[in-house]
Amino acid sequence: MILGVNVDHVATLRQARGGPEPDPLMGATLAILAGADGITVHLREDRRHINDRDLKLMRELVSTVELNLEMAATKEMTSIALSVKPELSTLVPEKRAELTTEGGVDVKREFKKISDAVKKLNDGGIPVSLFIDPDEKSIEWAAKTGAQMVELHTGYYANANRKSRQNELEKVRSALALAGRNGLLVNAGHGLNYSNVQPVAAIAGLRGLYIGHSIIARAVLSGMKEAVSQMKALILEARG
Ligand code: PXP
Repeated sequence: MILGVNVDHVATLRQARGGPEPDPLMGATLAILAGADGITVHLREDRRHINDRDLKLMRELVSTVELNLEMAATKEMTSIALSVKPELSTLVPEKRAELTTEGGVDVKREFKKISDAVKKLNDGGIPVSLFIDPDEKSIEWAAKTGAQMVELHTGYYANANRKSRQNELEKVRSALALAGRNGLLVNAGHGLNYSNVQPVAAIAGLRGLYIGHSIIARAVLSGMKEAVSQMKALILEARG
């Protein structure tokens, strides 16, 4: 099972100050050194975190693991993907005002747009994954687009209360089985964290997990001790 690490939120932190740090490229490098099997970036229409320069440099940097470009199925993003050539493009719905990707792609409603994007990307040699809700209809429609993979939205599982969590996990399991019968490779992601990842990671047949926010959040806290002691050492050194 692969772990794709989404480094968008390293860039979110950078954008809070508008300066150069922290650099998502360095975040990606350290993630790869720690064993990440892939790096994911979401180039949003409003470039709120990752920007075009990050993506270009990320393509140069990420050569030994999968670079997964999350993107809306728009003409602009398709043409960027075709020039950057990630190992995988994941098509996601995108609304300007959302804090994060809120639901899966409505493949039935946007069938033509999605299928056209899948075809263009595939013709350019880029495999495509569709981020969808873990339900029957979404999978059946996803299979018709010609996409190679789906990423099942685990946000419903992650946000479920204790009572319904098992039920949401079951939906992921049956969606995986149906997607497999439809010839799709299956990934999962969204909202996975240190306390809820294991039941999903234990599902046999999943190709990979795509995780972002919880890893960046953990990195900020687990790095705090060292960051403060390094600053303190510099200050004490300056004072002799
Ligand atoms: N997969 C997809 C398609 C996403 O849009 C996101 C969020 O950018 C993730 C996975 C990662 O979600 P999280 O940041 O909650 O781990």
